[in-house]
Amino acid sequence: MKITYFGHSACSIDTGTHTLVIDPFLSGNPHCPVKPEAVTCDYIILTHGHGDHLGDAIPMAQANQSPIITTYELASYCESKGAQAHGMGIGGAGAFPFGKIKFTLAHHSSSITDESGNVHYVGNPAGVILDLDGKTIYHAGDTALFLDMKLIGEMHAIDLAFLPIGDWFTMGIEDAAKAVEFLRPKHVVPVHYNTFPPIEVDASRFKSLVDDMGVACSLMEPGAVLDF
Ligand code: NI
Ligand code: MN
Repeated sequence: MKITYFGHSACSIDTGTHTLVIDPFLSGNPHCPVKPEAVTCDYIILTHGHGDHLGDAIPMAQANQSPIITTYELASYCESKGAQAHGMGIGGAGAFPFGKIKFTLAHHSSSITDESGNVHYVGNPAGVILDLDGKTIYHAGDTALFLDMKLIGEMHAIDLAFLPIGDWFTMGIEDAAKAVEFLRPKHVVPVHYNTFPPIEVDASRFKSLVDDMGVACSLMEPGAVLDF
């Protein structure tokens, strides 16, 4: 399995048979070295509707004929913009050709701001648990720390967790380290930091907290690939 980090919360997972892209905020991120047109995928997974997650999802879905899998209201929005989409609910799991996806809680919001600055809410934000070829990957989306992460960790033996650490909009370093304690993943990749000034943090401080727990932590530069 090959995991490519595009910066912010965006990554792709190549299982060998399918490529999934999560939260493809590529053209809007000056740190992302890849153009959306250069990324091919079979499915696009969205955790919520904010622009730094929805990103290039709709044009990528159209160009690749790849369905978007997300929460119900955001899926309806994507369909209204001409993408194919599967709308699911938090707590629900579904089987797809690549494996299984389950939507989890995330404490955040989910909205789309239009050109006139009006905010449209598109349901609840989410995280996702992916079961792919015997590997379990958790992408937390944007979220605060919450105690139910203990339950997620108890119900799923997480091999790899993507956790936001940038503070301001999501968990910061200390809260994300507590999340690692709750989730007990084997490996952690911090995301959602250093993209914009309010979310600039010293990720090496997070890594040392996670290292101290005996959990592997990879700090990935945008464009970096993890063989997993
Ligand atoms: Ni957000
Ligand atoms: Mn965000």
